[in-house]
Amino acid sequence: MEHTAVRDLLDASSIGKNAIAKGWVRTKRGNKNVAFIAFNDGSTIHNLQLVIDPNAFSEELLKSISTGACIRAKGAVVESKGSGQATEMQVEELLVYGEADPETYPLQKKGHTLEFLREIAHLRPRTNTFGAVLRIRHHLAFAIHKYFNDRGFFYLHSPIITGSDAEGAGEMFHVTNFDLNAPPRTPDGAIDYAQDFFGKETNLTVSGQLEGELGAMALGKVYTFGPTFRAENSNTPRHLAEFWMIEPEMAFHEIQDNMDLAEDMLKYLVKYALEHCKDDIEFLNNMYDKELLGRLSSVVEKPFTRLTYTDAISILEPKSKDFEFKVDWGTDLQKEHENYLVEHFKGPVILTDYPKHIKAFYMKQNDDGKTVRAMDVLFPWIGEIIGGSQREENYDKLLARVKEMGIHEESLWWYLETRKFGTCPHAGFGLGFERLVLFVTGMQNIRDVIPFPRTPKNAEF
Ligand code: 4AD
Ligand code: MG
Repeated sequence: MEHTAVRDLLDASSIGKNAIAKGWVRTKRGNKNVAFIAFNDGSTIHNLQLVIDPNAFSEELLKSISTGACIRAKGAVVESKGSGQATEMQVEELLVYGEADPETYPLQKKGHTLEFLREIAHLRPRTNTFGAVLRIRHHLAFAIHKYFNDRGFFYLHSPIITGSDAEGAGEMFHVTNFDLNAPPRTPDGAIDYAQDFFGKETNLTVSGQLEGELGAMALGKVYTFGPTFRAENSNTPRHLAEFWMIEPEMAFHEIQDNMDLAEDMLKYLVKYALEHCKDDIEFLNNMYDKELLGRLSSVVEKPFTRLTYTDAISILEPKSKDFEFKVDWGTDLQKEHENYLVEHFKGPVILTDYPKHIKAFYMKQNDDGKTVRAMDVLFPWIGEIIGGSQREENYDKLLARVKEMGIHEESLWWYLETRKFGTCPHAGFGLGFERLVLFVTGMQNIRDVIPFPRTPKNAEF
């Protein structure tokens, strides 16, 4: 007989059935007449109660079952007499796949700190918190593909190794197979990348956008969803060195369409999570953050506020003395400024038309000569969750900007050619997947919403 998931065994429809369950022991308690095991297999936040008659099993077998052990239990699913669960299992057969020595198994008591759990990231998925986070993460990833598929977008696989710097920020991890102690050199002493694996300098991608644009120029509407890498030394609760990004790119979309899509997509994803991850979100709400459910519902219901960067500055400037960082027209907004705006408007804010010198080279230039058609979506709790723009589709204007910003033009020849051959208005954006998961779970630190975080000085597991 196949084993059945705990999620299904907990449903009243299982009452009266004989079943096999396989999973891990959370706790064991009892006396000489009856023992209870709280049993979990990851299929749900809830445990199945196993009821055991100690006289029916050897003492040795029962002793080997402790917190963390992996077991197989066979028995009848019956209506539970205890409160809190509909069913329980009267165990008839028990098998231990793997013991977990109580002296050394680290997940003994409840209430480990999240910091401690980061040090045992190989075991933390077995906790209620990380089980909930990882299930929510899965459902959100699935919902993203569903959202785009249902709307005629095609999933484009952009490369992970590239020769360009899409954001022009120079925060890239190099990719090479040179012996770093003795790389080949040119006569003038520089490293000779012509002899490297790809015959040129390469790095891990910071964004799939540039290739996304190539796809949109042929398929109309595409999205990428893959890992991105940034070698920025940002040790904050919102930054990872390896994170996942979703980047839709649409031909014939202008900035308004881009904003409409971003708002619709975010609402869809939060709503999807509320509908499909109810138990896990409720658990996190009760455990960590009583305002989580309210915050999620409010994002789904309320329209996002839309305003220009210039208007935002006129709201922020009079409050200058309340901020740590200077704020006037032309400065990049800091987290405290973004938070202020989100609180001021009591919900998500979409800011547009930023000064061109604080944004990337590919953004469409406005007629004022000062601003570009950029768009950032700011979220309560998170700050920037999406960054995007309408793209500069005019070849001469784009080339002028590339030159002005000192960007290596030769490495972008293929990108520039799309503006020579059948160019069109187009737009897109990037959603940071972990920032979305942070928002939906209400967790405080981005290291706690990805299974194995990569941050400065940290690549264990
Ligand atoms: O604003 P960013 O840098 O935009 C781009 O990369 C564009 N190419 C997107 C596009 O238009 N296709 O990054 C997009 C989003 C941010 O809003 C943020 O949510 C997330 O990616 N992000 C990070 N998430 C975690 N750790 C980091 N270090 C991040 N850097 C950006
Ligand atoms: Mg950004």
